[in-house]
Amino acid sequence: MSALRGSTGAAGGATTDRPDQPDRPALVLRGLAKSFVDVQAVDGVDLEVRQGEFVTLLGPSGSGKTTTLRMIAGFTRQSAGTIEIDGVDMTHVPPHRRDVGMIFQNYALFPHLTAAQNIAFPLEMRRATRSEIKRRVAEALALVKLEGLGSRYPRQLSGGQQQRIAFARAVVFHPRLLLMDEPLGALDKKLREALQLEVMHISRQLGATVIYVTHDQEEALVMSDRIAIFSRGRIEQLGRGEDLYDRPVSLFVADFIGESNILRGRFERDGEGGWLARGNLRWRVAAAQEDRAALSDGSAAAIVVRPERLRIVGLNDPAVAAPGVNAVEASVRDALYLGSIRKYELMLPDGQAATVRRQVGGGEREWQSGDRVGLIWAVNDAVLVADPNG
Ligand SMILES: Nc1ncnc2c1ncn2[C@@H]1O[C@H](COP(=O)(O)OP(=O)(O)O)[C@@H](O)[C@H]1O
Ligand SMILES: [Mg+2]
Repeated sequence: MSALRGSTGAAGGATTDRPDQPDRPALVLRGLAKSFVDVQAVDGVDLEVRQGEFVTLLGPSGSGKTTTLRMIAGFTRQSAGTIEIDGVDMTHVPPHRRDVGMIFQNYALFPHLTAAQNIAFPLEMRRATRSEIKRRVAEALALVKLEGLGSRYPRQLSGGQQQRIAFARAVVFHPRLLLMDEPLGALDKKLREALQLEVMHISRQLGATVIYVTHDQEEALVMSDRIAIFSRGRIEQLGRGEDLYDRPVSLFVADFIGESNILRGRFERDGEGGWLARGNLRWRVAAAQEDRAALSDGSAAAIVVRPERLRIVGLNDPAVAAPGVNAVEASVRDALYLGSIRKYELMLPDGQAATVRRQVGGGEREWQSGDRVGLIWAVNDAVLVADPNG
């Protein structure tokens, strides 16, 4: 029997390849951990990924993303925990039998092989026949829109073309799981953005389950069904981009995804939620927020408000005293016009800074540097989190 799965065209073949149990997760990690001599690189990761899902591991350098990916691929042996692919425990399965395609971080193509030979490599490892190799390499080249460049050597290709070849090589045997470690990291911004969409579309077309690694939050938001925020070898939060943006569970996540205003203080509980107090400033915290954050009375906390959720009004505007609204007096330090939005940098009375983004063309009043204003936001638009450094 051929070691290759599927036998028809690239897209059709790959999707009909799937096992008949669509509800079974494609990948399950349980308590996955890896310690090196002096460092706990991965520290108990739990993750379930659905068939055909695109999940991104997002986190700062050194947070354990690459190590997690290498354990899934089988190149690094875990210290603890389990990895299941399509319901099968992978602990004793070597990399080439895991049916996983991988694009490595900073991993170049074989320089002495042509593009077509590079793509053929995994097929040769799997002992595919000559004719099958020929057909599949042609399909893979077409998939990444590089028909006709198969006989070029890597040095004769641009950076973007080389990444496309690396992608073709990773998917040519129709792996059930596709792992990508910062594949676009070395490319300039414009090319990176174009390839983000291309990688996303081709992965969907193939029906592949993808685990993608990046430290670029925008890339993660653009490409992913769900994002796992990594910090110190753990998943700090897992969810859709919207969930992470609107309801971060910690200051770390709030800071990592998007721009945020972080107002620090002490949490004071009362019957209907509580307050965030800082000096003589006090802001209401909704009961649902308080439940979620589960902070004890008096503990160091912060509220997070996204720049587009803040509004600037005149000091005597009735909105300042409206129910369900938090307000603070502020002065406008900078008023910046950025085309589709205006960005204001404000200073609060206690020296904290705040950033406000407003859509241009909404008929809102425009503010100038030096204006004394009211800064307001809906109580429900702020998220309460613990402040570990408070
Ligand atoms: N082979 C190794 N030997 C020792 N330490 C390692 C090894 N690989 C990774 N590490 C360490 O493990 C931690 C996580 O690394 P890594 O998984 O590469 O993070 P990321 O991909 O998120 O940048 C880092 O502190 C790194 O230095
Ligand atoms: Mg890495």
